[in-house]
Amino acid sequence: MKALVLSGGAGTRLRPITHTSAKQLVPVANKPVLFYGLEAIRDAGITDVGIIVGDTRAEIEAAVGDGSALGIKATYIHQEAPLGLAHCVLIARDFLGDDDFVMYLGDNFIIGGITDLVQEFVRCGADAQILLTKVDNPQQFGIAELDEEGRVVRLVEKPAQPRSDLALVGVYMFKPAIHQAVRAIRPSARGELEITDAIQWLVDNGYNVRSHFVNGYWKDTGRLEDMLECNRKVLETIEPACRGRVDAESRIIGRVVIEDGAVIERSTVRGPAIIGKGTKIIESYVGPFTSIYHDCVIERTEIEHSIILEATKIIGVSRIEDSLIGKEVEVAPSTALPRAHRLMLGDHSKVSIAY
Ligand code: G1P
Repeated sequence: MKALVLSGGAGTRLRPITHTSAKQLVPVANKPVLFYGLEAIRDAGITDVGIIVGDTRAEIEAAVGDGSALGIKATYIHQEAPLGLAHCVLIARDFLGDDDFVMYLGDNFIIGGITDLVQEFVRCGADAQILLTKVDNPQQFGIAELDEEGRVVRLVEKPAQPRSDLALVGVYMFKPAIHQAVRAIRPSARGELEITDAIQWLVDNGYNVRSHFVNGYWKDTGRLEDMLECNRKVLETIEPACRGRVDAESRIIGRVVIEDGAVIERSTVRGPAIIGKGTKIIESYVGPFTSIYHDCVIERTEIEHSIILEATKIIGVSRIEDSLIGKEVEVAPSTALPRAHRLMLGDHSKVSIAY
């Protein structure tokens, strides 16, 4: 069995972070979202992994490399433009051959892995297996309608008037029949070859499509709130560890991971929280549900319930909450007169100023 991991896409809902970075590499508890998926695939015993990449190809390749550090063998497949999930299957034909495969959306986050699901798919012999979960906002997902016996009857991509609240989770399992389906369908109204349409084609042509309910935690990490929520979930489960240096005037409370070479001076860190490699926390308060990535400086600042990417400096800010801050950002007070906020923000930035 192989895996096809989709790591293209524009990530418009996470702008401006995604103007310059791949959404799949935004860290959750200091590990890129994508890595959780790749580890789940490896844990299910699948090591031959095709990764679909687009404009952010260089960054994804730099992070994953040949895959050996994650225990997989990565093969990169370039998608010219985001033409849909079924288009990804189409262009991965040579890589996939006639093997069964798991398709995994690189921005989806599932706690509990996929090992049982893969085993079930292998056991049941279906042509496709989809995962479903109840959602409050079915207009934003692919939606499945089941009959009384729980068989999949209809799949609709982001319906304006949803006839069920069962969303398709971004993990699919296929036998080679899917290749015929992706060739048979036409682009949707949004101009994409939809995997939902391809699976509908399987249903319409008498193939066996099984559905499976996901009861555990699942999130499509498209938006800031979702990233913060995933971050909370993972931080709640981390094992406290200190591989850095904490001075005698600092207090570390609760579930806190301090990574290699991090320095905490005259500060309080109240977990769950993670402080990345080489990061310095000086005269600051880091509150619950905060992940600070590597090589940052947080000085004379209070920060809580936030994700900070690498090499960012935050100095002298009274309180930051509910925030996602990109890499190499600098936030600091200004001494220059006239007294004013001086900002250089990327396109689509969002700033809330507290008076
Ligand atoms: C895609 C699929 C959709 C599915 C969702 C899960 O949507 O098209 O059917 O429910 O992933 O994350 P997209 O993220 O491309 O909008």
